[in-house]
Amino acid sequence: MLSHYPAPVAVDFTQYLSREAAGRVRSQLKELKPYSEIPGMISFGVGVPHPSTWPLNGMTLSIPFAGKSVFVPGYESRTPDSLLPLETYEHPSKGEALVPDLSDELQYSSTYGTKHFNAWWKEHVRRTHAPRYDDWEVLCTAGNTDGMDAVMRTCFDRGDYMLVEEFAYPGLLSPAASLGLRCLGVPLDKHGMDPEALDNLMAGWDEAARGGPRPKLVVVVPTCSNPAGVTMPEERKRDLYSVCQRWNLLIVEDDPYCFLQIRPDGADSPIVPTFLSIDTDGRVIRIDSFSKIVAPGSRVGFITGHKFLVEKLMNSRESATQCPSGISIATITAILRAWGSHEGFELNYLPHISAIYGKRCLSLISLLQRYIPQDCIELPSPSGGMFLWVRLKIENHPDFPSKTPEDISNQVFHSLVKEKVLVAPSVYFKAPSTTMFNSEEEARNIFVRLSFSLPPPEQMEEGAKRMGRALAAEWGA
Ligand SMILES: Cc1ncc(COP(=O)(O)O)c(C=O)c1O
Repeated sequence: MLSHYPAPVAVDFTQYLSREAAGRVRSQLKELKPYSEIPGMISFGVGVPHPSTWPLNGMTLSIPFAGKSVFVPGYESRTPDSLLPLETYEHPSKGEALVPDLSDELQYSSTYGTKHFNAWWKEHVRRTHAPRYDDWEVLCTAGNTDGMDAVMRTCFDRGDYMLVEEFAYPGLLSPAASLGLRCLGVPLDKHGMDPEALDNLMAGWDEAARGGPRPKLVVVVPTCSNPAGVTMPEERKRDLYSVCQRWNLLIVEDDPYCFLQIRPDGADSPIVPTFLSIDTDGRVIRIDSFSKIVAPGSRVGFITGHKFLVEKLMNSRESATQCPSGISIATITAILRAWGSHEGFELNYLPHISAIYGKRCLSLISLLQRYIPQDCIELPSPSGGMFLWVRLKIENHPDFPSKTPEDISNQVFHSLVKEKVLVAPSVYFKAPSTTMFNSEEEARNIFVRLSFSLPPPEQMEEGAKRMGRALAAEWGA
Protein backbone atom coordinates (compact mmCIF):
# COMPACT_ATOMS: atom_id res chain seq x y z
CA MET A 1 0.00 0.00 0.00
CA LEU A 2 1.48 3.43 -0.94
CA SER A 3 1.63 5.99 1.84
CA HIS A 4 0.81 9.70 1.48
CA TYR A 5 3.02 10.37 4.52
CA PRO A 6 6.10 8.21 3.98
CA ALA A 7 8.64 7.75 6.75
CA PRO A 8 12.20 8.95 5.84
CA VAL A 9 14.29 6.33 4.02
CA ALA A 10 18.10 6.46 4.01
CA VAL A 11 19.35 7.15 0.48
CA ASP A 12 22.73 6.12 -0.86
CA PHE A 13 23.30 9.06 -3.22
CA THR A 14 26.40 7.55 -4.80
CA GLN A 15 24.19 5.24 -6.88
CA TYR A 16 22.97 8.27 -8.87
CA LEU A 17 26.38 9.42 -9.97
CA SER A 18 27.58 9.11 -13.54
CA ARG A 19 30.97 7.53 -14.18
CA GLU A 20 32.27 11.04 -14.81
CA ALA A 21 30.96 12.41 -11.49
CA ALA A 22 32.02 9.35 -9.50
CA GLY A 23 35.53 9.51 -10.95
CA ARG A 24 35.92 13.29 -10.72
CA VAL A 25 39.43 14.27 -9.71
CA ARG A 26 40.17 17.61 -8.06
CA SER A 27 43.29 19.64 -8.70
CA GLN A 28 46.05 18.83 -6.20
CA LEU A 29 46.63 22.57 -5.81
CA LYS A 30 43.49 22.61 -3.61
CA GLU A 31 45.64 20.85 -1.01
CA LEU A 32 47.42 24.17 -0.43
CA LYS A 33 44.25 25.85 0.85
CA PRO A 34 44.47 24.76 4.53
CA TYR A 35 48.10 25.91 4.65
CA SER A 36 47.25 29.28 3.09
CA GLU A 37 44.77 29.85 5.94
CA ILE A 38 47.43 29.57 8.67
CA PRO A 39 47.69 33.10 10.19
CA GLY A 40 50.83 34.92 9.06
CA MET A 41 51.49 32.61 6.10
CA ILE A 42 53.18 34.30 3.13
CA SER A 43 51.92 32.56 0.05
CA PHE A 44 53.81 32.05 -3.19
CA GLY A 45 51.56 29.05 -3.67
CA VAL A 46 48.47 30.37 -5.37
CA GLY A 47 48.74 31.90 -8.83
CA VAL A 48 45.93 34.38 -9.24
CA PRO A 49 46.04 37.91 -10.69
CA HIS A 50 46.47 40.92 -8.43
CA PRO A 51 43.23 42.98 -8.17
CA SER A 52 45.21 46.19 -8.83
CA THR A 53 45.73 44.92 -12.39
CA TRP A 54 42.01 44.77 -13.11
CA PRO A 55 41.04 47.55 -15.49
CA LEU A 56 37.68 48.13 -13.84
CA ASN A 57 36.96 49.14 -10.28
CA GLY A 58 33.38 50.27 -10.13
CA MET A 59 30.17 50.32 -12.09
CA THR A 60 26.69 51.67 -11.83
CA LEU A 61 23.71 49.65 -12.93
CA SER A 62 20.40 51.25 -13.74
CA ILE A 63 17.47 49.09 -12.50
CA PRO A 64 14.23 50.47 -14.00
CA PHE A 65 11.73 48.25 -12.11
CA ALA A 66 13.23 49.32 -8.78
CA GLY A 67 13.40 52.95 -9.93
CA LYS A 68 17.04 53.39 -8.91
CA SER A 69 20.66 52.91 -9.88
CA VAL A 70 22.98 50.73 -7.87
CA PHE A 71 26.73 51.25 -7.50
CA VAL A 72 28.97 48.19 -7.45
CA PRO A 73 32.33 48.99 -5.79
CA GLY A 74 35.70 47.53 -6.72
CA TYR A 75 39.37 47.47 -5.79
CA GLU A 76 40.22 50.70 -3.89
CA SER A 77 36.91 52.28 -4.90
CA ARG A 78 34.17 52.19 -2.30
CA THR A 79 31.74 54.95 -3.31
CA PRO A 80 30.20 56.27 -6.53
CA ASP A 81 32.27 59.47 -6.03
CA SER A 82 35.34 57.45 -6.95
CA LEU A 83 33.98 56.79 -10.44
CA LEU A 84 36.01 58.43 -13.17
CA PRO A 85 34.42 61.05 -15.43
CA LEU A 86 32.08 59.77 -18.09
CA GLU A 87 33.50 60.13 -21.55
CA THR A 88 31.76 59.68 -24.86
CA TYR A 89 33.09 56.99 -27.08
CA GLU A 90 34.31 58.09 -30.43
CA HIS A 91 34.36 55.42 -33.01
CA PRO A 92 38.11 55.18 -33.63
CA SER A 93 38.44 53.65 -37.06
CA LYS A 94 37.07 51.08 -39.44
CA GLY A 95 36.97 47.53 -38.14
CA GLU A 96 37.02 48.60 -34.53
CA ALA A 97 33.31 49.03 -33.90
CA LEU A 98 32.48 47.85 -30.43
CA VAL A 99 28.88 48.63 -29.70
CA PRO A 100 27.93 47.14 -26.34
CA ASP A 101 24.22 47.69 -25.83
CA LEU A 102 22.33 45.84 -23.12
CA SER A 103 19.20 45.67 -25.24
CA ASP A 104 21.12 43.24 -27.47
CA GLU A 105 23.64 41.88 -25.03
CA LEU A 106 21.07 40.61 -22.53
CA GLN A 107 19.32 38.51 -25.19
CA TYR A 108 20.41 34.95 -26.07
CA SER A 109 23.17 35.33 -28.63
CA SER A 110 24.67 32.96 -31.14
CA THR A 111 26.78 30.30 -29.42
CA TYR A 112 29.73 31.70 -31.39
CA GLY A 113 29.32 35.01 -29.53
CA THR A 114 28.09 38.48 -30.41
CA LYS A 115 28.68 40.04 -33.81
CA HIS A 116 30.54 43.18 -32.79
CA PHE A 117 32.82 41.50 -30.23
CA ASN A 118 33.63 38.58 -32.54
CA ALA A 119 34.43 41.04 -35.35
CA TRP A 120 36.73 42.95 -33.00
CA TRP A 121 38.42 39.72 -31.89
CA LYS A 122 38.91 38.60 -35.49
CA GLU A 123 40.64 41.87 -36.22
CA HIS A 124 42.78 41.36 -33.11
CA VAL A 125 43.69 37.86 -34.37
CA ARG A 126 44.65 39.27 -37.81
CA ARG A 127 46.79 41.98 -36.28
CA THR A 128 48.47 39.76 -33.68
CA HIS A 129 48.77 36.32 -35.30
CA ALA A 130 48.09 36.94 -39.02
CA PRO A 131 46.84 33.38 -39.70
CA ARG A 132 48.35 31.90 -42.84
CA TYR A 133 45.18 30.19 -44.08
CA ASP A 134 41.71 31.55 -44.78
CA ASP A 135 39.27 29.11 -43.22
CA TRP A 136 39.65 30.13 -39.63
CA GLU A 137 36.87 30.99 -37.24
CA VAL A 138 36.51 32.21 -33.67
CA LEU A 139 34.27 31.07 -30.82
CA CYS A 140 33.69 33.12 -27.69
CA THR A 141 34.06 30.96 -24.56
CA ALA A 142 33.86 31.30 -20.81
CA GLY A 143 37.67 31.26 -20.58
CA ASN A 144 40.34 28.65 -21.23
CA THR A 145 39.00 26.05 -18.80
CA ASP A 146 35.79 26.12 -20.82
CA GLY A 147 37.74 26.13 -24.10
CA MET A 148 39.77 23.10 -23.02
CA ASP A 149 36.62 21.31 -21.87
CA ALA A 150 35.17 21.85 -25.36
CA VAL A 151 38.32 20.44 -26.95
CA MET A 152 38.43 17.37 -24.73
CA ARG A 153 34.74 16.56 -25.22
CA THR A 154 34.97 17.13 -28.97
CA CYS A 155 38.21 15.36 -29.84
CA PHE A 156 38.47 12.48 -27.37
CA ASP A 157 36.75 9.32 -26.21
CA ARG A 158 37.24 7.73 -22.80
CA GLY A 159 40.55 5.91 -22.63
CA ASP A 160 42.24 8.01 -25.36
CA TYR A 161 45.70 9.40 -24.73
CA MET A 162 46.26 13.17 -24.68
CA LEU A 163 49.80 14.55 -24.79
CA VAL A 164 50.67 17.31 -22.35
CA GLU A 165 53.80 18.93 -20.94
CA GLU A 166 55.65 16.76 -18.42
CA PHE A 167 54.79 19.29 -15.73
CA ALA A 168 51.33 20.54 -16.60
CA TYR A 169 48.60 22.81 -15.29
CA PRO A 170 46.51 20.78 -12.79
CA GLY A 171 43.39 22.52 -14.14
CA LEU A 172 44.04 20.51 -17.31
CA LEU A 173 45.13 17.23 -15.72
CA SER A 174 42.16 16.87 -13.35
CA PRO A 175 39.32 17.49 -15.86
CA ALA A 176 41.08 15.22 -18.34
CA ALA A 177 41.21 12.42 -15.75
CA SER A 178 37.54 13.00 -14.90
CA LEU A 179 36.65 12.54 -18.57
CA GLY A 180 38.59 9.27 -18.61
CA LEU A 181 41.47 10.59 -20.77
CA ARG A 182 44.97 9.33 -20.21
CA CYS A 183 47.41 12.24 -20.09
CA LEU A 184 50.97 11.51 -21.06
CA GLY A 185 53.71 14.02 -20.28
CA VAL A 186 56.29 14.94 -22.93
CA PRO A 187 59.67 15.98 -21.47
CA LEU A 188 60.50 19.67 -21.16
CA ASP A 189 63.74 21.59 -21.24
CA LYS A 190 64.46 25.28 -20.70
CA HIS A 191 62.70 26.12 -24.00
CA GLY A 192 59.56 24.11 -23.29
CA MET A 193 58.36 20.85 -24.82
CA ASP A 194 61.19 18.88 -26.42
CA PRO A 195 60.38 18.14 -30.12
CA GLU A 196 62.81 15.23 -30.28
CA ALA A 197 61.22 13.60 -27.25
CA LEU A 198 57.80 14.04 -28.87
CA ASP A 199 59.07 12.56 -32.12
CA ASN A 200 60.58 9.56 -30.31
CA LEU A 201 57.42 9.02 -28.30
CA MET A 202 55.29 8.93 -31.44
CA ALA A 203 57.79 6.82 -33.41
CA GLY A 204 58.07 4.24 -30.66
CA TRP A 205 54.34 4.04 -29.96
CA ASP A 206 53.31 0.44 -29.39
CA GLU A 207 49.52 0.19 -29.51
CA ALA A 208 49.37 -3.17 -27.79
CA ALA A 209 51.72 -2.17 -24.97
CA ARG A 210 49.99 1.18 -24.46
CA GLY A 211 46.50 -0.24 -24.83
CA GLY A 212 45.43 2.46 -27.25
CA PRO A 213 46.15 4.16 -30.56
CA ARG A 214 48.72 6.90 -31.07
CA PRO A 215 47.63 10.24 -29.57
CA LYS A 216 46.17 12.77 -32.01
CA LEU A 217 46.56 15.97 -30.04
CA VAL A 218 49.13 17.73 -27.90
CA VAL A 219 48.42 20.56 -25.46
CA VAL A 220 51.10 23.20 -24.89
CA VAL A 221 51.20 26.34 -22.77
CA PRO A 222 53.76 28.20 -24.89
CA THR A 223 54.12 31.49 -23.02
CA CYS A 224 55.19 31.92 -19.39
CA SER A 225 53.87 28.42 -18.85
CA ASN A 226 52.13 27.16 -15.78
CA PRO A 227 53.91 25.79 -13.82
CA ALA A 228 57.31 25.93 -15.55
CA GLY A 229 57.29 29.66 -16.40
CA VAL A 230 58.87 28.94 -19.80
CA THR A 231 58.32 30.91 -22.99
CA MET A 232 58.92 28.80 -26.05
CA PRO A 233 61.12 30.60 -28.61
CA GLU A 234 59.90 30.78 -32.20
CA GLU A 235 62.44 28.24 -33.45
CA ARG A 236 61.32 25.67 -30.88
CA LYS A 237 57.71 26.25 -31.95
CA ARG A 238 58.64 25.64 -35.59
CA ASP A 239 60.46 22.40 -34.69
CA LEU A 240 57.55 21.18 -32.61
CA TYR A 241 55.11 22.16 -35.35
CA SER A 242 56.97 20.11 -37.92
CA VAL A 243 56.99 17.05 -35.61
CA CYS A 244 53.22 17.52 -35.24
CA GLN A 245 52.89 17.63 -39.02
CA ARG A 246 54.90 14.40 -39.30
CA TRP A 247 52.59 12.61 -36.86
CA ASN A 248 49.43 14.44 -37.88
CA LEU A 249 48.93 15.84 -34.38
CA LEU A 250 46.63 18.74 -33.58
CA ILE A 251 48.19 21.37 -31.32
CA VAL A 252 46.16 23.09 -28.64
CA GLU A 253 47.87 26.38 -27.82
CA ASP A 254 46.58 27.22 -24.33
CA ASP A 255 47.97 30.74 -24.05
CA PRO A 256 46.46 32.74 -21.17
CA TYR A 257 49.81 34.38 -20.35
CA CYS A 258 50.59 35.38 -23.94
CA PHE A 259 50.52 39.10 -23.16
CA LEU A 260 52.26 38.78 -19.80
CA GLN A 261 55.62 37.95 -21.36
CA ILE A 262 58.41 40.33 -20.42
CA ARG A 263 58.85 42.95 -23.14
CA PRO A 264 62.04 44.86 -22.36
CA ASP A 265 61.10 47.77 -24.66
CA GLY A 266 57.40 47.69 -23.90
CA ALA A 267 55.24 47.95 -26.99
CA ASP A 268 58.40 48.08 -29.15
CA SER A 269 59.29 44.51 -28.14
CA PRO A 270 57.17 42.22 -30.30
CA ILE A 271 55.61 39.17 -28.66
CA VAL A 272 57.09 35.79 -29.62
CA PRO A 273 55.22 34.52 -32.72
CA THR A 274 52.47 32.11 -31.72
CA PHE A 275 51.71 28.62 -32.99
CA LEU A 276 48.64 30.10 -34.68
CA SER A 277 50.87 32.47 -36.61
CA ILE A 278 53.06 29.65 -37.96
CA ASP A 279 50.18 27.25 -38.65
CA THR A 280 49.76 26.49 -42.35
CA ASP A 281 47.41 23.50 -42.01
CA GLY A 282 44.68 24.55 -39.57
CA ARG A 283 46.08 22.09 -37.00
CA VAL A 284 46.39 24.68 -34.22
CA ILE A 285 43.51 25.35 -31.86
CA ARG A 286 44.42 28.53 -30.06
CA ILE A 287 42.68 29.31 -26.79
CA ASP A 288 42.87 32.83 -25.36
CA SER A 289 41.49 34.18 -22.12
CA PHE A 290 40.65 37.56 -20.64
CA SER A 291 41.34 36.10 -17.16
CA LYS A 292 44.89 37.41 -16.93
CA ILE A 293 44.59 40.59 -18.99
CA VAL A 294 41.24 41.77 -17.63
CA ALA A 295 40.04 39.65 -14.70
CA PRO A 296 39.34 35.95 -14.06
CA GLY A 297 35.80 36.72 -12.92
CA SER A 298 34.96 38.00 -16.39
CA ARG A 299 34.91 34.39 -17.63
CA VAL A 300 35.47 35.37 -21.24
CA GLY A 301 37.88 33.92 -23.74
CA PHE A 302 38.12 32.88 -27.37
CA ILE A 303 38.98 29.81 -29.38
CA THR A 304 40.54 30.43 -32.80
CA GLY A 305 41.12 27.64 -35.29
CA HIS A 306 40.03 25.91 -38.45
CA LYS A 307 36.34 26.54 -39.04
CA PHE A 308 35.53 22.82 -39.26
CA LEU A 309 36.89 22.20 -35.77
CA VAL A 310 35.58 25.45 -34.34
CA GLU A 311 32.06 24.54 -35.49
CA LYS A 312 32.32 21.19 -33.67
CA LEU A 313 33.63 22.96 -30.56
CA MET A 314 30.75 25.42 -30.84
CA ASN A 315 28.28 22.50 -30.94
CA SER A 316 29.69 21.23 -27.65
CA ARG A 317 29.20 24.67 -26.04
CA GLU A 318 25.65 24.97 -27.41
CA SER A 319 24.61 22.13 -25.11
CA ALA A 320 26.78 23.34 -22.21
CA THR A 321 26.53 27.12 -21.88
CA GLN A 322 24.15 27.92 -24.79
CA CYS A 323 25.89 31.23 -25.42
CA PRO A 324 28.49 33.43 -23.74
CA SER A 325 27.48 35.76 -20.90
CA GLY A 326 26.11 38.97 -22.40
CA ILE A 327 26.78 40.91 -19.20
CA SER A 328 30.43 39.92 -19.33
CA ILE A 329 30.69 40.77 -23.01
CA ALA A 330 29.09 44.18 -22.41
CA THR A 331 31.62 44.85 -19.66
CA ILE A 332 34.68 43.65 -21.55
CA THR A 333 33.74 45.49 -24.73
CA ALA A 334 33.12 48.67 -22.72
CA ILE A 335 36.61 48.29 -21.22
CA LEU A 336 38.12 47.70 -24.66
CA ARG A 337 36.32 50.80 -25.94
CA ALA A 338 37.89 52.83 -23.16
CA TRP A 339 41.31 52.17 -24.72
CA GLY A 340 39.91 53.64 -27.88
CA SER A 341 41.15 51.19 -30.46
CA HIS A 342 43.21 48.10 -31.20
CA GLU A 343 46.26 50.34 -31.09
CA GLY A 344 45.39 51.59 -27.62
CA PHE A 345 44.88 48.02 -26.44
CA GLU A 346 48.09 46.73 -28.00
CA LEU A 347 50.42 49.66 -27.43
CA ASN A 348 49.20 51.08 -24.13
CA TYR A 349 47.27 48.53 -22.19
CA LEU A 350 48.94 45.15 -22.83
CA PRO A 351 52.52 46.39 -22.25
CA HIS A 352 51.26 48.11 -19.07
CA ILE A 353 49.96 44.79 -17.69
CA SER A 354 53.07 42.83 -18.68
CA ALA A 355 55.29 45.51 -17.10
CA ILE A 356 53.50 45.09 -13.74
CA TYR A 357 54.10 41.35 -13.66
CA GLY A 358 57.54 41.61 -15.26
CA LYS A 359 58.68 43.90 -12.45
CA ARG A 360 57.39 41.48 -9.84
CA CYS A 361 59.10 38.57 -11.59
CA LEU A 362 62.51 40.29 -11.66
CA SER A 363 62.13 41.48 -8.11
CA LEU A 364 61.40 37.97 -6.77
CA ILE A 365 64.39 36.57 -8.67
CA SER A 366 66.73 39.12 -7.13
CA LEU A 367 65.30 38.50 -3.64
CA LEU A 368 65.80 34.76 -4.01
CA GLN A 369 69.35 35.38 -5.21
CA ARG A 370 69.98 37.56 -2.18
CA TYR A 371 68.48 35.36 0.55
CA ILE A 372 68.83 31.75 -0.57
CA PRO A 373 72.14 29.88 -0.56
CA GLN A 374 73.12 28.82 -4.09
CA ASP A 375 73.67 25.22 -2.99
CA CYS A 376 69.94 24.78 -2.41
CA ILE A 377 68.26 26.11 -5.52
CA GLU A 378 68.68 26.79 -9.21
CA LEU A 379 66.82 29.82 -10.52
CA PRO A 380 65.23 29.99 -13.98
CA SER A 381 65.66 32.84 -16.43
CA PRO A 382 62.76 35.23 -16.13
CA SER A 383 60.12 35.20 -18.82
CA GLY A 384 57.20 36.98 -17.14
CA GLY A 385 53.75 35.57 -16.46
CA MET A 386 53.07 34.75 -12.83
CA PHE A 387 55.38 31.89 -11.94
CA LEU A 388 58.97 31.04 -11.14
CA TRP A 389 59.89 27.37 -11.43
CA VAL A 390 62.70 26.96 -8.96
CA ARG A 391 64.71 23.74 -8.94
CA LEU A 392 65.56 22.30 -5.55
CA LYS A 393 69.10 20.90 -5.67
CA ILE A 394 68.11 17.66 -4.03
CA GLU A 395 71.41 16.17 -5.21
CA ASN A 396 73.14 18.43 -2.62
CA HIS A 397 70.69 17.72 0.20
CA PRO A 398 72.32 15.88 3.15
CA ASP A 399 69.52 13.28 3.23
CA PHE A 400 70.11 12.28 -0.40
CA PRO A 401 70.38 9.44 -1.38
CA SER A 402 69.35 7.82 1.90
CA LYS A 403 65.88 9.30 1.41
CA THR A 404 64.08 9.45 -1.94
CA PRO A 405 63.93 12.78 -3.81
CA GLU A 406 60.13 12.87 -3.36
CA ASP A 407 60.45 12.34 0.40
CA ILE A 408 63.03 15.11 0.65
CA SER A 409 60.82 17.40 -1.40
CA ASN A 410 57.93 16.70 0.97
CA GLN A 411 60.15 17.33 3.99
CA VAL A 412 61.33 20.65 2.48
CA PHE A 413 57.71 21.67 1.81
CA HIS A 414 56.87 21.14 5.50
CA SER A 415 59.98 23.01 6.66
CA LEU A 416 58.84 25.94 4.51
CA VAL A 417 55.33 25.75 5.98
CA LYS A 418 56.89 25.79 9.47
CA GLU A 419 58.64 29.05 8.51
CA LYS A 420 55.22 30.24 7.24
CA VAL A 421 55.99 30.43 3.58
CA LEU A 422 53.92 28.52 1.06
CA VAL A 423 55.03 27.17 -2.31
CA ALA A 424 53.53 24.64 -4.74
CA PRO A 425 55.62 21.44 -5.01
CA SER A 426 56.28 19.96 -8.46
CA VAL A 427 54.53 16.71 -7.60
CA TYR A 428 51.19 18.57 -7.94
CA PHE A 429 51.94 19.21 -11.62
CA LYS A 430 53.57 15.97 -12.67
CA ALA A 431 51.79 14.30 -15.56
CA PRO A 432 52.17 10.54 -16.02
CA SER A 433 55.30 10.27 -18.11
CA THR A 434 57.22 7.88 -20.28
CA THR A 435 60.53 9.01 -18.81
CA MET A 436 62.06 6.52 -16.39
CA PHE A 437 64.31 8.45 -14.04
CA ASN A 438 66.95 6.86 -11.85
CA SER A 439 67.35 8.36 -8.40
CA GLU A 440 70.11 10.79 -9.49
CA GLU A 441 68.01 12.08 -12.40
CA GLU A 442 64.93 12.34 -10.25
CA ALA A 443 66.91 14.37 -7.73
CA ARG A 444 67.53 16.89 -10.53
CA ASN A 445 63.85 17.09 -11.43
CA ILE A 446 62.27 18.37 -8.25
CA PHE A 447 60.94 21.92 -8.35
CA VAL A 448 58.72 24.34 -6.49
CA ARG A 449 56.43 26.80 -8.23
CA LEU A 450 56.51 30.30 -6.77
CA SER A 451 53.79 32.68 -7.79
CA PHE A 452 54.76 36.36 -7.63
CA SER A 453 51.41 37.79 -8.68
CA LEU A 454 49.84 38.44 -5.27
CA PRO A 455 52.21 39.17 -2.36
CA PRO A 456 52.94 42.87 -1.81
CA PRO A 457 56.65 43.82 -2.18
CA GLU A 458 57.43 43.79 1.57
CA GLN A 459 55.86 40.33 1.91
CA MET A 460 57.87 39.12 -1.06
CA GLU A 461 61.06 40.12 0.69
CA GLU A 462 60.01 38.58 4.00
CA GLY A 463 58.90 35.42 2.12
CA ALA A 464 62.30 35.15 0.43
CA LYS A 465 64.06 35.58 3.80
CA ARG A 466 61.93 32.83 5.35
CA MET A 467 62.64 30.55 2.40
CA GLY A 468 66.32 31.27 2.80
CA ARG A 469 66.19 30.32 6.52
CA ALA A 470 64.22 27.12 5.94
CA LEU A 471 66.35 25.96 3.01
CA ALA A 472 69.65 26.83 4.69
CA ALA A 473 68.58 24.71 7.68
CA GLU A 474 67.50 21.83 5.43
CA TRP A 475 70.67 21.84 3.36
CA GLY A 476 72.90 22.64 6.33
CA ALA A 477 74.21 25.54 4.21
C1 LIG B 1 47.82 27.22 -18.34
C2 LIG B 1 46.46 27.66 -17.92
N1 LIG B 1 45.42 27.34 -18.70
C3 LIG B 1 44.17 27.72 -18.35
C4 LIG B 1 43.93 28.44 -17.22
C5 LIG B 1 42.52 28.81 -16.86
O1 LIG B 1 42.18 30.00 -17.45
P1 LIG B 1 40.70 30.57 -17.46
O2 LIG B 1 40.55 31.45 -16.26
O3 LIG B 1 40.62 31.32 -18.72
O4 LIG B 1 39.74 29.42 -17.42
C6 LIG B 1 44.99 28.81 -16.38
C7 LIG B 1 44.75 29.60 -15.16
O5 LIG B 1 45.47 29.68 -14.23
C8 LIG B 1 46.29 28.40 -16.75
O6 LIG B 1 47.35 28.71 -15.99
